[in-house]
Amino acid sequence: MALKIPGVGLSEEEKRIYPMGKIALMISLDMLRFKVEKALRQFGISEIQTIGAKIVALTSKNFTYNDIELIIIDVDSPDFNAYEVIANLKKGIKSAILPILAIGNRSDASIATQLKTLGCEDYIPKPIDDMILSSKVLQLLRERKPNTEIKTHIEEKSKLETLKLAWHAEFETGIQAIDEEHHEIIKQYQKLYALMKDGLGHDFYEDFLAFLSSYVISHFENEERIQQEIGYPQMDVHKHSHSEFKEKLTSFIQDKKVPPSNQDLLKINLFVKDWLIHHIYVEDRKIGAYYKSQK
Ligand SMILES: [Fe+2]
Ligand SMILES: [Fe+2]
Repeated sequence: MALKIPGVGLSEEEKRIYPMGKIALMISLDMLRFKVEKALRQFGISEIQTIGAKIVALTSKNFTYNDIELIIIDVDSPDFNAYEVIANLKKGIKSAILPILAIGNRSDASIATQLKTLGCEDYIPKPIDDMILSSKVLQLLRERKPNTEIKTHIEEKSKLETLKLAWHAEFETGIQAIDEEHHEIIKQYQKLYALMKDGLGHDFYEDFLAFLSSYVISHFENEERIQQEIGYPQMDVHKHSHSEFKEKLTSFIQDKKVPPSNQDLLKINLFVKDWLIHHIYVEDRKIGAYYKSQK
């Protein structure tokens, strides 16, 4: 039987970043299923409807789900003929419009071409890389042409969610110099986020990387100086954390492509959201708490 897993593991922050509430359908029933589900949840993909391998063939002929927006299929599952299943899905009234992301064992270029001819939008060879899988899924979901009703709904939701990304008092450490710089960092992230939503993030990518490597790095230096001044006991650990960010940022700069791909944009978005904003919210506020305790 189909197993419904409603948004398990989604943090409020993830829901805010990927507010479209898309649903992925995955067709596979082995260890791979758990890996894919875990990867998608980790990156905030909304809901996953898993269909057991034994009923895949039947489901593909009579696709009755209303809320699916993407199909992920394992083309090497021994329990069904994936090529027949894809052909059926592409004939079905409800399923024909859905993008299909195939995953499989072969890594030669011909399999991707063959599957694209059949109607699959994309193909990922195993072993599955979490970041690549999530990037492709998000890219397909974003590229899908929604009908007017869904579009309006998404636009309204997106607008609301963008507003939610605004600076709020909970970010404050209570140390004005630090808070002002954090405010600017979040403002720039918001700008990237808003542009990406309109499909205009590519033009901002280089400026955003430059911002991270100038403003954010100098912010780290200022913050470390303040920590020294107030005798913050966790300074070494905190400094190490800043170094981690610098290392990751260097790899982004080294791999920089002009123009960036959608995946590049998504990666930098996730990196700043998952690392930097998380760092501000969790680690930097500890400096503020210490400062207050010493007054
Ligand atoms: Fe900071
Ligand atoms: Fe910090």
